[in-house]
Amino acid sequence: VAEDGLNGWLRYAKLDDCHTKGRLESIPKTIITLNATKDSPLETAGTELQTGISGILGLDLEINPESSSNATKFVISTADAYKAEYGDLPEGVDLIDDGFYLNTKDADVLIIGSNQRGALYGVFEYLSRLAQADFFKDVYVTNPEVPVRWANQWDNLWANGTHGSIERGYGGVSIFYDGFGHVREDLSRVPLLGRLLSSVRINAIVINNVNADASLFQGTNLDGIQRIADLFRPWGVQIGLSQYFASPQTIGGLDTFDPLDEGVITFWTDLTNEFYRRVPDLAGFVVKANSEGQPGPITYNRTLAEGANLFAKALKPHGGLLMFRAFVYNHLADWEDWHADRANAQVEFFGELDGKFDDNVVVQIKYGPIDFQVREPVSPLFGHLRNTDVAIELQVTQEYLGQQCHLFYLPPLWRSIFDFDMRVDGKESYVRDIISGKVFNRKRGGYTAVTNVGMNATWLGSHLAMSNLYAFGRLAWEPTLDSVEILEDWTRLTFGLSRGIREAVTEMSMLSWPAYENYTGNLGIQTLTDILYTHYGPKPASQDNNGWGQWTRANSESIGMDRTCWNGTCNAGQYPDEVAQRFEETDTTPDDLMLWFHHVPYTFKLHSGKSVIQHFYDAHYEGAETAATFPDIWENVRGKLDDERFEHVLHRLKYQAGHSIVWRDAINEFYRNLSGIPDEAGRVRNH
Ligand code: GCU
Repeated sequence: VAEDGLNGWLRYAKLDDCHTKGRLESIPKTIITLNATKDSPLETAGTELQTGISGILGLDLEINPESSSNATKFVISTADAYKAEYGDLPEGVDLIDDGFYLNTKDADVLIIGSNQRGALYGVFEYLSRLAQADFFKDVYVTNPEVPVRWANQWDNLWANGTHGSIERGYGGVSIFYDGFGHVREDLSRVPLLGRLLSSVRINAIVINNVNADASLFQGTNLDGIQRIADLFRPWGVQIGLSQYFASPQTIGGLDTFDPLDEGVITFWTDLTNEFYRRVPDLAGFVVKANSEGQPGPITYNRTLAEGANLFAKALKPHGGLLMFRAFVYNHLADWEDWHADRANAQVEFFGELDGKFDDNVVVQIKYGPIDFQVREPVSPLFGHLRNTDVAIELQVTQEYLGQQCHLFYLPPLWRSIFDFDMRVDGKESYVRDIISGKVFNRKRGGYTAVTNVGMNATWLGSHLAMSNLYAFGRLAWEPTLDSVEILEDWTRLTFGLSRGIREAVTEMSMLSWPAYENYTGNLGIQTLTDILYTHYGPKPASQDNNGWGQWTRANSESIGMDRTCWNGTCNAGQYPDEVAQRFEETDTTPDDLMLWFHHVPYTFKLHSGKSVIQHFYDAHYEGAETAATFPDIWENVRGKLDDERFEHVLHRLKYQAGHSIVWRDAINEFYRNLSGIPDEAGRVRNH
């Protein structure tokens, strides 16, 4: 693939003379890194700045020259080192961990981090602006919204025929593992990924699947983990590990994995100490327990909190965090029980455990109560954990959302969740403020995303999908950032300053969520994809009559999950009162969640005035029509970028346009057959 696939948005392409004319003189002549040690983020900050300035401006700067005489300089430093050398930072510059201060007003440019990582982030910020021809002369101070900004990779040690070696990964095989049970010899992709993550201020990455394989923690693989951590460290990226709950049995030789058993406790303490001996800055663990067949504490009648605290105690002396996943539900549920509901599971399992977790546990909650669907209400669990730190789990990998073969720019979806007001205790309580800890006065919050980059030369299998990885980092730092502004930054950095490209990418990306929702599953019915195996392509029949609980309850008369309290599963009742009342009634439930909360006849009139079935028909046509415009929009930029990336994107957009018609016809036919109600517009499937 084209020149810069692996650099992603960090191309540092040379600016045209028209942008740089008369401006180069003001760029400092040398780079000083205060107290930088070998392979430290501060050292990286210096070399990255050097590389960036050379690429963007064509200037060669020396780092820490022997004699710099009176030359102007970039000073890259931690706040402490700066103070020791030059005195206090100006008043009002208050930095918390990973924050930084950038001063470009004077002849010397100051890039000062609260810590080394912050200084590196400051360099990336400076270069990002420069690459966009923004020669700003200003002071900029920024701090993160939350300390936990983690990527999760679902990489497997072993390749398996269907999915390669990354579960739900669509960008090739693992960059960490060879597919034969070992950490790769050649880990040259790792620092390249570390650089991308660091540039958007993601500070940790979990390097193995949540469906964890304990053999990663044996023999030479332990050396491998250490090598991976060593390669990420200069980028200020820590690693985390997913743990398999039954490891004491599978690799520890014990006959139990009961979290209260002394032998089990010793096993985890020893293993954790061994990790920290090798990786002293290990960020912590992620644990998926008692979910989808995984073992967990409930196997021994212990609570999930007792299970989580087992790891938390082992991690505590090292300062590590335990990210405990709330994705716990019964996947063998009784679909004939009108009151059964997977959407209730998280509150049922975790609600009463609030306050019972150790203080280095963070409960990691998927954004919706089911599973990364095209439209879900926010998980009600966010309204329940008042005495527990929480992180939201997003997906950059497009598991249910077209698997990178369809363009789907995710930030508008994410923002709809962050910006939802839960009305806890009848007061303003945006989900983003629950996550940050503001609402419940918690100390630590987090944004995590399943990223699943792979060996593909575009990382994610699609150039345009990289905007989602970029945006995840930006939003984890500042969740109120505007989706279009993030996208415009990304487009300039990735494809250059052409306005035409920016307009094309923005137009398509901002239409991509509504289009995909329209031609897949709308009105809150979920994505309607094949939920049993591939999670790809239309298969509405797969939702029902199985234990997985992604039911639509569609029959010949009516459709939708009844989640009301008066007649259904009472999932609506899990939300704080004001929201609960809104979702309890069809009158106050928005159309886009109507079938999520209500079971209604196909002829039910929506707020839009349309019937449910006619909305289905129309939306599917609209969605496919929108997707059909994408290749034409992209054609307009032919010649404005390299052919290779142009063609790669075009190929995917054409495929999407075609596949959206497959979706349209499959879904419309399915519900026409089921309901027997014709499309008012008389449209029939093209054969
Ligand atoms: C989804 C996904 C699985 C994954 C699970 C999880 O169900 O399809 O592959 O293991 O989520 O998040 O744990």
